[in-house]
Amino acid sequence: MTEKKKKAKKTVGKTEPKEQSAKDPNPDHAVIADYNGYDYKKIFWEDGKRDYEDLCDRLAVRKLLPDTMDDFVDIAGGYGRLTDEYISRAKNSTIFDYSKTELADAKKTYGDRITTKEGDIYNLPFKDETFDGLMMVRATHHFKDMPKVIEELYRVMKPGGVAVIEIASKKTLPKMFRYWFRKSDINPFSKEPSYLKELEMYNYHPKYMEDLFKKQGFKILKVLSVSNFRSPKLKKMFGTKFLGRLEKVAQPTLAPIRFAPSIYYKLEKTPKNA
Ligand SMILES: C[S@@+](CC[C@H](N)C(=O)[O-])C[C@H]1O[C@@H](n2cnc3c(N)ncnc32)[C@H](O)[C@@H]1O
Repeated sequence: MTEKKKKAKKTVGKTEPKEQSAKDPNPDHAVIADYNGYDYKKIFWEDGKRDYEDLCDRLAVRKLLPDTMDDFVDIAGGYGRLTDEYISRAKNSTIFDYSKTELADAKKTYGDRITTKEGDIYNLPFKDETFDGLMMVRATHHFKDMPKVIEELYRVMKPGGVAVIEIASKKTLPKMFRYWFRKSDINPFSKEPSYLKELEMYNYHPKYMEDLFKKQGFKILKVLSVSNFRSPKLKKMFGTKFLGRLEKVAQPTLAPIRFAPSIYYKLEKTPKNA
């Protein structure tokens, strides 16, 4: 692991011992990354110079979210980085997250225009069929029990509701090269989830997630390949503005081969056995 990554990892709150909810003793549901006390906005986004990645997420979310929604929830929404992309489209917007720090930051920025709700992804504090719009971005890598996560997201959505879910893909070109040149023994082509021990993160194969979505009762309406040029060298050489123009074209064009490290899905909740 590079020094930079080590430093970034150390600052993501306490990771040892794992936070275990008293209500949910399942060890697979322990909180892996606790963002309490971590300045995610400054350290990860601003100091990490991730304008390009931020723009890529925005392009995807803008394209995939419905224009109008009644009740919308941003799951693991953090400090509300993407709130300005949905707040005007929904009558009521909620940010759900585990971290008090992130939610307090969101409240500071958006005040009464948003509701914040604290809790744990495996036991969402919402009634069945609450939301007609849902988004979850940059969060799957923190979750081990993905079938349970998808089940919970499905549960809180209204029939016919739309979810935009981003996954951290294990099937990327750099991961393929690392595997072919024996720098890593993680096979990016195999469907099972991979665990990156040093970073305490899970990556998911698009096919694994797509099977899970369908099994749960979600219909896949659209797919985008996002952050296609996520490379420090490319970012330095070409800058965010130019790469952003290429990205706009690449997101739908490269979607059929699920090229990028982030794959976005627009899903519709259908009856489970439809
Ligand atoms: C990488 S951040 C992404 C935040 C936001 N979605 C974005 O794209 O800027 C991951 C978020 O997941 C939240 N999180 C991690 N584990 C969680 C859990 N078990 N339940 C709920 N939220 C969790 C963290 O607190 C953090 O805000």
